[in-house]
Amino acid sequence: MIDMSGQIAVVFGVANKRSIAYSICESFAAAGATLVIGYQSERLKKDSEDLLESLGQTGKGKLVQCDVSKDEEIDGAFAEIKSSFPAIHTVVHSIGFAPNIKNAVLDTTRDDFRIANDISVYSLIALARGAAPLMIDGGTILTLTYYGAEKVFPNYNIMGVCKAGLEAAVRYLASELGPKNIRVNAVSAGPIKTLAARGIGDFNTILDVTTQRAPLHRNVEQSEVAGAAVFLASKLASGITGEITYVDCGFNVTGI
Ligand SMILES: NC(=O)c1ccc[n+]([C@@H]2O[C@H](COP(=O)([O-])OP(=O)(O)OC[C@H]3O[C@@H](n4cnc5c(N)ncnc54)[C@H](O)[C@@H]3O)[C@@H](O)[C@H]2O)c1
Repeated sequence: MIDMSGQIAVVFGVANKRSIAYSICESFAAAGATLVIGYQSERLKKDSEDLLESLGQTGKGKLVQCDVSKDEEIDGAFAEIKSSFPAIHTVVHSIGFAPNIKNAVLDTTRDDFRIANDISVYSLIALARGAAPLMIDGGTILTLTYYGAEKVFPNYNIMGVCKAGLEAAVRYLASELGPKNIRVNAVSAGPIKTLAARGIGDFNTILDVTTQRAPLHRNVEQSEVAGAAVFLASKLASGITGEITYVDCGFNVTGI
């Protein structure tokens, strides 16, 4: 069992019980970490509040509002975190959004491209910049990506372009933050039915094809992605940075 006791883990991206971030919070708490949950808006606060309570972290952990499209909310969130905790150890960025994701890449407007990249890619950079000064003993930053960064998946569209940028950002951030002993990694999760996935047209086909072709012949569960997050956040992964770790039942190794 990995021991995260004494560690402060800040997790962004809990929308509901199906969120990958929700499972990551559960696994981090089970490993002993103290949680800070960054929720997007007042509308989503209750789910994070309930989660913190169910994990027995009310009063110990913390909630911060952070719409990552707003610099002042990112600054405010880290200022609030700093007021409670002198140092943090882990940040999870489990955030993605693309307006009109159903549009073909060819039909993506300048504005939709800008928003998708702002929320899904730039936010990792902005959160890393906010977190780094608080990682005084080093730390780990994790994001969530998808194989659509590398290969074309029907209906993934502009989000595939975003994920390619996100994965490149992981490598550059890993290089820049390595001297501060801050590791930056991504988990490439297989398809999971979440709120974000609902926006992807014909998502069930992606799930079906995975069960047919993945070496494990099934789809991955949130808890399995969370397990990899615990590992990557732990000292066991102290030599791993700038990497994309696949938790996809092996789908990415298959040809046909
Ligand atoms: N579900 C999948 O199949 C799958 C597979 C691989 C990777 N991922 C990635 O995992 C991450 C989490 O997605 P999920 O599947 O758990 O879905 P989800 O809908 O539960 O989580 C997406 C989160 O992004 C947050 N978000 C969106 N815009 C935001 C903003 N402006 N400010 C702050 N937060 C914002 C939402 O509040 C939500 O909590 C995403 O990056 C997604 O692309 C998902």
